[in-house]
Amino acid sequence: DSSLKNTKSYLIDGKFFSEIISPSSIKSRVHQIGEDISREFKSEKPVIIGVLNGAFIFMSDLIRNIDIEFEVDFIKISSYKNDLKSSGTINLEKNINIDVTNKHVIIVEDIVDTGLSLKYLYGEISKLSPSSIRFATLLYKNNKNNVHRNKIHLDWIGFNVEDYFVIGYGLDYKQHYRGLNGIYAAKERWGNWKRI
Ligand code: IMP
Repeated sequence: DSSLKNTKSYLIDGKFFSEIISPSSIKSRVHQIGEDISREFKSEKPVIIGVLNGAFIFMSDLIRNIDIEFEVDFIKISSYKNDLKSSGTINLEKNINIDVTNKHVIIVEDIVDTGLSLKYLYGEISKLSPSSIRFATLLYKNNKNNVHRNKIHLDWIGFNVEDYFVIGYGLDYKQHYRGLNGIYAAKERWGNWKRI
């Protein structure tokens, strides 16, 4: 109980989080995506843009699996959400600083849920006249209520996940638990919570 890491389940705020994607599965998938990007951009020098905060761990592992030249920058956005649905308001907290004009851009996201962030990012980066915009996301949430998700093509998806709240590997619950090495999901409908 004293170790925060290497545990298969957590009881957090009355919610039972259990591991759905192991650190080794993440590692091999991130490696594959890196190889894919390297192959596709062999003769280009893409600009890889990480979306803060959630994508910082995926981003740092991904770029170390990319075996070509590239530039790196970060963009920070925040969205205001109630419990279930996105309010539709996204704020740009920090824009990129690199000039992406006539360059190929790869945007790296932690998770696509409603797709609102994706749509917003596409709009913002498009304004900067890049040659192309690609998207890589570690997770793709099977949220049937989303309105924005399917409007933009996702080029690389790490894993599809059910419509549960997930934490770990960069993803937070109230800014906590980003450092967990696996992905953990809160399964609310499991009734009485028991630690296993
Ligand atoms: P979207 O705009 O609804 O697609 O949501 C994207 C952003 O919401 C992600 O970049 C995450 O920061 C956050 N988010 C969505 N679902 C989850 C989750 O299950 N756990 C943690 N953060 C999430």
